Amino acid sequence: MKSRPKLSHHRPRVLFKRRTMPSSSRPAGVNGRRIVVLDDVYEQFTSSHSPEGVSSLPMVPDLFTSLPLIRDVLETETSRVQDETVEACLPFLTNEDDSFTYNENGVPRLDRQRHIKFLHSSLGQLPGRFVAVDAARPWFLYWCLSGLKLLGEDISPYRSRVIETALSMQNSTGGFGGGNGQLSHLATTYAVVLALALVGGEDAYEAIDRRALWRWLCSLKQPDGGFQVCLGGEEDIRGGYCAAVIISLLNIPLDLTPESPAWREDSPTLFSGLAEYVGRCQTFEGGISAHPDSEAHGAYAFCALGCLSILGDPGEMIPTYLDVPRLIAWLSSRQHAPEAGFSGRTNKLVDGCYSHWVGGCWPLVEACLSSSGRYGSKTRLPPSTTSLFSREGLIRYILCCCQDQSKRGGLRDKPGKASDQYHSCYVLSGLSSAQHKWQLAPSWNGELEKVWTVSPYRDEPQIFDERDRLLPVHPVYVIPQSSQESIRDYFLAKQGFQ
Ligand code: FPP
Ligand code: ZN
Repeated sequence: MKSRPKLSHHRPRVLFKRRTMPSSSRPAGVNGRRIVVLDDVYEQFTSSHSPEGVSSLPMVPDLFTSLPLIRDVLETETSRVQDETVEACLPFLTNEDDSFTYNENGVPRLDRQRHIKFLHSSLGQLPGRFVAVDAARPWFLYWCLSGLKLLGEDISPYRSRVIETALSMQNSTGGFGGGNGQLSHLATTYAVVLALALVGGEDAYEAIDRRALWRWLCSLKQPDGGFQVCLGGEEDIRGGYCAAVIISLLNIPLDLTPESPAWREDSPTLFSGLAEYVGRCQTFEGGISAHPDSEAHGAYAFCALGCLSILGDPGEMIPTYLDVPRLIAWLSSRQHAPEAGFSGRTNKLVDGCYSHWVGGCWPLVEACLSSSGRYGSKTRLPPSTTSLFSREGLIRYILCCCQDQSKRGGLRDKPGKASDQYHSCYVLSGLSSAQHKWQLAPSWNGELEKVWTVSPYRDEPQIFDERDRLLPVHPVYVIPQSSQESIRDYFLAKQGFQ
């Protein structure tokens, strides 16, 4: 196997600090948009980088413009695609991409109108190739409606179509499939329930057959505490999180039917053993896997923390069922430099969707640490102006690297990829989360309860334009807070299945 040249002692600390001269007069291959192989970049900078050329144009911290200080010396497919990703991201982070106008902090504006257009058009007639993802139609509803709402769009014109579509996907045996006549699945049911919550209103809420849904949920509940995602299907942490969201938003009774595989004489409930199941999904790395004894992945970390935060106070639940220091170490390792975004798992690449799946873990971890529970008294949380991850980095990755600059608009995984509805939703959710500060604060509402409260996150300097702030997305339910409160309050007022 060929080993790579040892570059560390030659390596320049700064690749592109600031824009130095117009691109037309730059030496070929240096500071240009041209993607060059990383070894060449190191070479050029060790030989020709001149600090005198640096002027005082946009300020971008070295962390996001320098080549990684530590680089795997063994060349493998993994190291090669990692190098390519750094090469693809750096021109955007260093303001070398000509299709953007960068502000004084080196960050482009959010191309709101183009993203709105992309999401609206995705709710219309889709090209024929989308037949391959027919079973994900509920997801397209959720991704597009959620993205539009975060961007401040009025989605009420979609209400009747969403209700009609949801009804066509509902099975009389409970739950929603991916389309008419398709098997009910927890993921598609979750997506339909959130889509109905997003359009809101009594007719949307009443479209859901809660009694049938309850029976179906009971049939998925397993004796070990987890949930199968569909009848006879796999049991994993997505099932646990989706079930917890559905049950809590719709105020579904927790009693088990005698037909449930989890039913016992000592009357366990839909939530019995679920937190323990989540705890068993934590791996030796500190992250969370889909099911016990598998590989940790950011998407499952969010499912785990979201699920525990529904089952009880995150300040009690998270430290009781998870090893928090190891979880924090693993989550922290997900943020890359210089790319500044998150990866989903060890030795993998940054990807815009993890702005939510990993980025969305931080408010829940912060709620756990700032609670008066197990860690609260022992842990010193950073002052309210700082965070456990680099919000600045995430915002830079999103605004510089995740906006599709082509006419289609929308948000994407990384430079070189096209936008899609899934990434648009989760990149925007991650951006919203990075732009807001969430707290779980005690509140008096007839009785003492903890409620999620949100305030705009402000930093000095604020690297993004205030007009690019999105609506706050609920840290557990991943829909705007007002949508979550409306559906929860509607069903809390109901007794049983009335
Ligand atoms: C790997 O994809 C992705 C996974 C192992 C997890 C996918 C799960 C979700 C997106 C979340 C599901 C959640 C709910 C609520 C249903 P990859 O190998 O393409 O990506 P990677 O290289 O970044 O790991
Ligand atoms: Zn992705």
